[in-house]
Parts: sequence; C-alpha cells; structure tokens
Amino acid sequence: MSIIRSVVTGCGAYLPEKVLTNEELSQTVDTSDEWIVERTGIRERRIAAEGENTSDLALHAARNALSDAGLEPGDIDLIILATATPDLTFPATAVTVQAELGITDGAAFDIQAVCTGFVYGLTTADNFLRCGQHKRALVIGAETFSRILDWEDRGTCVLFGDGAGALVLEAQEGVGDNSDRGILRTRIRSDGRYQDKLYVDGGPSSTQTTGYLRMEGRDVFKHAVTNIASVMAETLEASGVEPKDIDWFVPHQANKRILDGTARKFGLSNERVVITVDRHGNTSAASIPLALNVAKQDGRLKRDDLVLLEAMGGGFTWGAALVRW
Ligand code: UT7
Repeated sequence: MSIIRSVVTGCGAYLPEKVLTNEELSQTVDTSDEWIVERTGIRERRIAAEGENTSDLALHAARNALSDAGLEPGDIDLIILATATPDLTFPATAVTVQAELGITDGAAFDIQAVCTGFVYGLTTADNFLRCGQHKRALVIGAETFSRILDWEDRGTCVLFGDGAGALVLEAQEGVGDNSDRGILRTRIRSDGRYQDKLYVDGGPSSTQTTGYLRMEGRDVFKHAVTNIASVMAETLEASGVEPKDIDWFVPHQANKRILDGTARKFGLSNERVVITVDRHGNTSAASIPLALNVAKQDGRLKRDDLVLLEAMGGGFTWGAALVRW
C-alpha cells in the first residue's frame, strides 16, 4: 500500500554570535559555574544582539535548511514557526519570515506550545502534508528567550538561550511501514492544570506587558521526567519500535539530568544521545532542530537513521516524534 510521508529533505540552524558563559552570569547574579553545570549541564548559551529578532534567527535557519534541501523559497507552500517569543503580538512571526523569503503563495502561521513547539509544529505540518493540502513545508523553531527572562532571578535566567533551527519536509510516497523515510509517528499532549508551574506573567489581554518567565523548577522537573517517559513509551509501542532500534535520541535540551535519566530509563546508551544543552542552554522550541543540525553537520545523523525526538514545556505540553531521516 502506498501512503504519503513527510520526508525531511533539509536541515538548518542559526545561533546568535554573542556567547554568555556561566562565569559571566556569576558576575551579575548569585550563582556559580559549578552550580549551573552540576544541576543543568549548561556551560554557555547564545544571546541575540540588540535589534536581532526571532524572525531574523528564523530566517537564517530557514535559508540554511532550504540550501541544504537544494530548494528555492518558492518551492515552499507552508511555513510553520514554533515560538513563544514572537517579534510582535501579531502578525505571526511566520509571515515575517515568509515575506523575507519572498514567498507570496501558500500559508504561514505560528504555533505556541513553548518548549514542545517544534514537536507540535512537526505534527501539524505532517498532517497537512499527508492529507495533500500542502507539498513542501518549512518547520522552524525560533526563540529569543533572553527577552523574557528576569535577569535578577537566578532560578531561571541561567537556564535559557536564543537560537533557531528548521527542517524542510516534503510529501513523498512511502510503502506504509517503518522502513519508510519521513515522519513515522507523532504524539502530542497537554494538560492545562499546570499553567502556573511555568508561564510568562504578562500578555496583551491580561497586563498589556510582555512579562517575564516564571518557573517552579523542581515541580517542572518532576512532571518532565514522568511525561516524557510516558509519551516516548506510547510512541514506541504504537510504532512497534524497540529502544534498541533507535539510532539517535534527540531530546529537547532543558536539563542534562533529565536527558540522562530518560536515556537510562529506555536503555539508550550515551553514544546515541545528541546533547547540546552544554553549549546552547534551553532554547525552547529551537532546541530540537538545533540539535538535529549539530548531529547532521558533524556526520552522526545519516539518511535512513531512526530518530526519536521528545519535548516537554509550559502548559504543560509534551510530545514525541519518530522520524526516519
Ligand atoms: O524546557 C521546559 C522544561 N523545563 C525544565 O524541564 C526545567 C526543569 N527544572 C530544572 O531543570 C531544575 O529544577 C532547575 C535546574 C531549574 C533547578 O535545579 P534543582 O536541582 O531542582 O534545584 P532547586 O530548584 O531545588 O534549588 C536548589 C537550591 C535552592 O537553594 P536552597 O533553597 O536549597 O537553599 C535554590 O535557591 O539551589 C538554589 N539555586 C541556585 N543556586 C545557585 C537555584 N538557582 C540557583 C542558581 N545558582 N542559578
């Protein structure tokens, strides 16, 4: 039986130039390189320059992904941009990227699922491509979390960074089993009862301000460990895939302790886990495509490899995706 699959044909990313080290942070808040590395695995993160917006980071990542795919912007008929830090309240940052790319056809919109945004974006694009409504999609995760951090709150400001990553997906025919290239399965979840554990305390309708990120880290940690494990288990089981079949585990990069614990639980050896949290910090919706790009560029991630992605974030939202590269 022939079915439509959303196949990854291009991958790109972009990081702002400015590096902010733990050492530098310890000069402005009561923290230390030792604490940050031990509790999170983060050593440094990137910070967008003044005037450098989420759309600018997204545009660089999108151009790199298009060039990797050997495509022109006009070949794209769907842009989905996952972000919790849009340039403006509206219009969607995706349409700014669309205009900068010179695309006047198709559709572009943002998705807001915070750190799970990229998995939500992939899921949405996959459904549009598989139903035949669009042919080629750019799925972008782009964030400037540095703009919504309270730089006096050591419990949050040391954790996040800025960046963007993008994939090009193309509708192609597959045979309908796990040997197909492309997105094999996705699963997304949310539970709005936990909004107050991780949120931004401002918005157009409530305060008419942008607000700052607030988090009860310990609670988020506990839920992350449980939710990630359950959605990964469901995704693997529904696909008839065992952890041993996974070539690369590319998790959302929030905290190295969470990644290590999850990998251990599923028997995924360290060599099969892509880790970027040390260099990028938590870049929210951008972290998975940034990590995919690192693994692709350094030669680890190859065509036909089986990749498991997962993320968890504010909402709570969480999800996983199984992709044959
Ligand atoms: O991407 C979305 C999902 N987000 C996450 O998954 C994040 C989940 N949470 C975490 O990663 C961790 O909970 C944190 C890294 C945020 C915190 O680590 P923790 O081991 O849970 O620490 P804690 O919050 O329990 O704090 C332990 C101590 C506290 O001091 P007391 O009360 O024991 O005296 C904090 O005040 O560490 C203190 N602390 C710090 N000390 C130095 C908190 N932040 C810092 C800091 N530097 N930056």
